[in-house]
Amino acid sequence: MASPAGLLGLLRAQGARLGPWEEAVGAIRRELFLPDDIEVGDEVISRTISPQRWLEAAYSDVSITTQVNDGRPTGTDEYRLPTSSSSQPSVMLEALDLLDVQPTDRVLELGAGTGLNAAWLAYRLGSDRVVSVEVDPALAERAAKNNAAAGLSPRVVAGDGDRGWPEGAPYQRVISTYAVDEIPHAWVDQAPQGRIVSPWGGSFFPYSFAVLDVHEGSAEGRFTGYPAFMRSRIRRPKRGYLNDFLHHRQHAEHATTSLSPLTVAQDADALFYIGLALPDAWHLPVAADDDSGEMTLWILADDQRSWASADYTPDAHQYAVVQYGPRRLWDEAEAAHGAWEALGRPTRARAGISITERQWLWIDEPKRDLSALLPSPVAKEAT
Ligand SMILES: C[S@@+](CC[C@H](N)C(=O)[O-])C[C@H]1O[C@@H](n2cnc3c(N)ncnc32)[C@H](O)[C@@H]1O
Repeated sequence: MASPAGLLGLLRAQGARLGPWEEAVGAIRRELFLPDDIEVGDEVISRTISPQRWLEAAYSDVSITTQVNDGRPTGTDEYRLPTSSSSQPSVMLEALDLLDVQPTDRVLELGAGTGLNAAWLAYRLGSDRVVSVEVDPALAERAAKNNAAAGLSPRVVAGDGDRGWPEGAPYQRVISTYAVDEIPHAWVDQAPQGRIVSPWGGSFFPYSFAVLDVHEGSAEGRFTGYPAFMRSRIRRPKRGYLNDFLHHRQHAEHATTSLSPLTVAQDADALFYIGLALPDAWHLPVAADDDSGEMTLWILADDQRSWASADYTPDAHQYAVVQYGPRRLWDEAEAAHGAWEALGRPTRARAGISITERQWLWIDEPKRDLSALLPSPVAKEAT
């Protein structure tokens, strides 16, 4: 059934964390928050051409791309980089559950997008308790209009969400719907006794929710979940053709390693800790398509100067490594992996984050600073 009730039933059946959001999900029409042209995965759906399919998508538990290429007119033959979306409802609920919103809280949302999350918050708390910041002024305007169509009026502000919105502070809850690699201090300052939930991580592993509690201006938190959100539009890493990252192959250095690239690629805890040492490089596991069970783990630097590959072959004990550029990215990843092993292969759940005047990651307790236990990021020295 393509309706809020249908979506609610679907989410219930999936065991989504509905909690106090059930009424809002059942009452608010997601279709009011979507443009006529949307994308679900690779499928472009026009409301005019396929109204039924469009409506079905609106009430499915899927993330829906609502803007590509920052809203620049884009031909059908151009690459379409998703730059705004209506997030997957079950993931929105997961984040709201972590936020633990109380009925009298004032909430600051960063990344208004379509305005649907702000609408759920406004429906439950009252519009005057919700502020949402969106970096794209056209989207901010649209989010406010979408809310008005649903009979709601949270304040939607155009600006960089990293700055929060001090005019509305103090807030009790801060929720970001774009990913950051560092929690902006403004969020801590504007919720001095509150909770912050944000997708968090550098290029290597941006797939964690950071959940922090703030007391007297300092914050402490942990990591959970595996959300995949867009990164801040303001600090977007470089993009380009694969060849922009992967060049000078004939000049690359060859070596071998005994560390299995498959083991590294498949262990989310290892990737989380390696990512702390390589926040400015991304990884790409590519499997062979010939049933050989082989794969290559690529590591590519955000600055497009260095890259590495490590080839996995089943039953082998040594794996071929190729590296190029001012950095030896596989060596860095292997050193970080070794440090993680020396720590006893901790899970991500043992890691925490503290924010005072500085920000640091730790293991088990704030005084076990991970920057002293893992190799430190070397990007700055290499540039
Ligand atoms: C996943 S979408 C938002 C989903 C949205 N909350 C909803 O309910 O539909 C992420 C949004 O964050 C916005 N964004 C990215 N970087 C931002 C920044 N630095 N400040 C504010 N908004 C930002 C994007 O333009 C995009 O609209």
